[in-house]
Amino acid sequence: MAIIGKPINRVDALLKVTGAAKYAAEFNQPNMVYAFPVRSTIAKGSVSAIDSSAAEKSAGVIKILTPENAPQLKAIDPKVKTGGMLGEQLLPLQDNLVYYFGQYIALVVAETYEQARAAASLVKVNYSKEKHAIDLNTELPNGYKPQKVQGEDAQVNEGKTAPVIDATANKISYTYTTPTENHHPMEPHASIAVWEGSDKLTLYDSTQGVMGARGTLAYHFSLTPENVQIVSPYVGGGFGCKGSQWGHMLLAAMAAKLVQRPVKLAITRQMMQTNVGRRPATQQKMAMATDDKGMLTAIRHHTDSYGNKSDFFEPSGKQTAVLYNAPLREITYKIAKLNIGTPTYMRAPGETPGTFALESAIDEMAYKMKMDPVAFRVLNHTAEDPSKKHPFSSENLLDCYTIGSEKIGWQQRKAEPGQLRKGKQLIGYGVATATYPAGRSAASAKVQLRADGSVIVQSATQDIGTGTYTIIAQTASETLGIPVEKITVKIGDSSFPPAPVSGGSMTTASVNPAVMAAAEMVRKELLALATADTGSSLKGRRLEDIGYADGHFFVTADKTTVDSYADIMRRNNKNIVEACTTAMPASGSGLGAPTAPCMEAPIDKEENSDKEKYSFHSFGAQFAEVWVDEDFGTIRVKRFVSVQDVGRIMNEKTARSQIIGGVIYGIGAALMEETAYDHRWANPATRTLADYHVPVNLDVPDIGVHFIGKPDPHISPIGARGIGEIGTTGVSAAIANAVFNATGKRLRDLPFTPDKMLLKS
Ligand code: MOS
Repeated sequence: MAIIGKPINRVDALLKVTGAAKYAAEFNQPNMVYAFPVRSTIAKGSVSAIDSSAAEKSAGVIKILTPENAPQLKAIDPKVKTGGMLGEQLLPLQDNLVYYFGQYIALVVAETYEQARAAASLVKVNYSKEKHAIDLNTELPNGYKPQKVQGEDAQVNEGKTAPVIDATANKISYTYTTPTENHHPMEPHASIAVWEGSDKLTLYDSTQGVMGARGTLAYHFSLTPENVQIVSPYVGGGFGCKGSQWGHMLLAAMAAKLVQRPVKLAITRQMMQTNVGRRPATQQKMAMATDDKGMLTAIRHHTDSYGNKSDFFEPSGKQTAVLYNAPLREITYKIAKLNIGTPTYMRAPGETPGTFALESAIDEMAYKMKMDPVAFRVLNHTAEDPSKKHPFSSENLLDCYTIGSEKIGWQQRKAEPGQLRKGKQLIGYGVATATYPAGRSAASAKVQLRADGSVIVQSATQDIGTGTYTIIAQTASETLGIPVEKITVKIGDSSFPPAPVSGGSMTTASVNPAVMAAAEMVRKELLALATADTGSSLKGRRLEDIGYADGHFFVTADKTTVDSYADIMRRNNKNIVEACTTAMPASGSGLGAPTAPCMEAPIDKEENSDKEKYSFHSFGAQFAEVWVDEDFGTIRVKRFVSVQDVGRIMNEKTARSQIIGGVIYGIGAALMEETAYDHRWANPATRTLADYHVPVNLDVPDIGVHFIGKPDPHISPIGARGIGEIGTTGVSAAIANAVFNATGKRLRDLPFTPDKMLLKS
């Protein structure tokens, strides 16, 4: 391929750095007003009275929405597929019940943002307060065992591993804990709602899924989906919190309906900690055993976690079902209900905390058997999905270990901990395996070639900062033989042909095959016109003898015999040649499949991924070098190497950014990120980025990223799998394992703040 794979700059880079790229909150409307929510100061109970008299008299106030006067929304019905996904099973202002601190309980609408916010502080609320549940271990006895996780059985082989593990001394058994974490994309969520009459709604919104947002808004406002338009051309990061629909989106539309003016509701950084989901804390009990040669005989992985107003739970056992050749594995969950903000998907939900536990435990097992941690992983490697017994669609994990070992300088590592130092700095090396499922969903795209040689590509997908615009342009360019500069990509609008949510790392694998298919249809139509045209030098030529590049066809054996797209269109009186199609995997797997193809789609069988024959996963190896200060217990990640086996790379530059971002996300989880709750009120004590710490430049070392780059022959004709999430998996385990190698101290509780290094082992 000539253009796919090249590290070209982002096609939207100039718009972004000049501020011309418009984000949701920037779509100001004529006559627009502002909303600011009032939020609960209790975590459980009900609102008994709201006194808004002072707020109503406050300057600029137009309306105060409470459960008394708020527009009624169509109720949640678990049996109805809306096309969208509510972040929590909770519609704002429909009753007076409170499930967590910070829940929306009223909404002030005013002429300016400042007036709305000032008036919100004047709303007086009386509560009937109940005792909240906040402590995981206190509530677990009343928890439940989920039956399904993403369509598969959640509880696997419960109780089956004990006889094998109990019968040997070659075993380890430890508990690993991970804290609640919050998404903090640079751009907080924001919505601007605009009604046209009472049956047409436009929502400018920061979302990972315009089609899902359309489905949810249409359903709860009883509108036909065609009468709801979601506009989201640029998104300042998502990480899962913008994958489903949260209360502010509904509130903005409710307020706009009531005051009959456009309403902007932009949530604050503090609200990011309470109202738009989070990664719930986990406690993971790991146990495993080997034979005398170090071959794994059994792995047990039990996760305790919590939920609130949704069915989501952190599926931390997912990677334990696909990694390593253990003949017996047991994976179980128990989930308590807590009165803290609702958990949701957060970058590699499941695998991020799950690989911390599994890959730390694998390391502990390797040390127990006095084996090199890389060699131990190689020995126990599996080339097939051990749970489904399918081959992987494409799998090169052993190469990742080899390349990573070389790049980090694994041979410098001492087998015994605490042997390598530079002054007061103890130096260690750690490895962990990365993995994430490779999803693909049906997606549609429209490609339009114009007489002036320009191309417009449309799809209701979105670019959440990953580079979607750029790789779609590359795919269209590659398939049409037209330079990237002539291609305009239009996405982030639900009026375009449907595409899935940008979640589950599946945008690249889903949308580009559709773009390729539509572009191919355009190219073939042009070529058919040329070969049938007496005015063309290609008249009567066989299709297989003709190539294309730079806006023209040529005879491959004689490159001077050409016909340009512009000439073909001119001779045939065509201003536009266009095609719209839907590309889909055979089994239609994945989340958020579009409900309607834009056009009938002739899909070749070979183009389809096949879930029945292959297991679709990506793999990688994460290597860390850490320096631990002997006196202060501070951990510095000095170097990091991430080797990724993710299929074909669409753009070497944006792909590298994804993995670097993923590793930094993992460094945050390893060293600092934690949403802490004050148990008296069940409110987050970490309210802003001043106390919810994320990595800054000084925390981030040189990160070496290496791609295996072998196209996956089964996922799509392009062979690219998604890379948005895998970069985070395994990172905190690689760091924990490096800290152990440096110091002999095993850290099993994230994040590794200095106090944990100072406490006695
Ligand atoms: Mo990702 S957590 O599937 O948006």
